[in-house]
Amino acid sequence: MKLRLCSRGDLPTCEVRRFELADGRAVALYHLEDGFFATDDLCTHGEASLADGEIEDGRIVCPYHLGAFDIRTGKATDAPCHIPLKTYPVVEIDGELFVEGEKVEG
Ligand code: FES
Repeated sequence: MKLRLCSRGDLPTCEVRRFELADGRAVALYHLEDGFFATDDLCTHGEASLADGEIEDGRIVCPYHLGAFDIRTGKATDAPCHIPLKTYPVVEIDGELFVEGEKVEG
């Protein structure tokens, strides 16, 4: 099922925002120059929200230990991160952004 996250105009280019899912997961939605991308929000190295990190050259830099991941692929690019992030296809319909999932709260 497609879950609406926000309107495309709600997230400016080069910004990231966290969205909570009903099953306890959270996704980070990124707006890069070439489109929208989504990953798990939780860093695979610790309890950090990647939406609190910084986007640099297509990577999200974790605010805790400055590890990083490729936003488009989820691949860990900078230590201490080595486990990849799960990624989610983002679908745009009539200017609204969706990911696949169970249900969005809030
Ligand atoms: S918690 Fe993200 S790099 Fe350590």
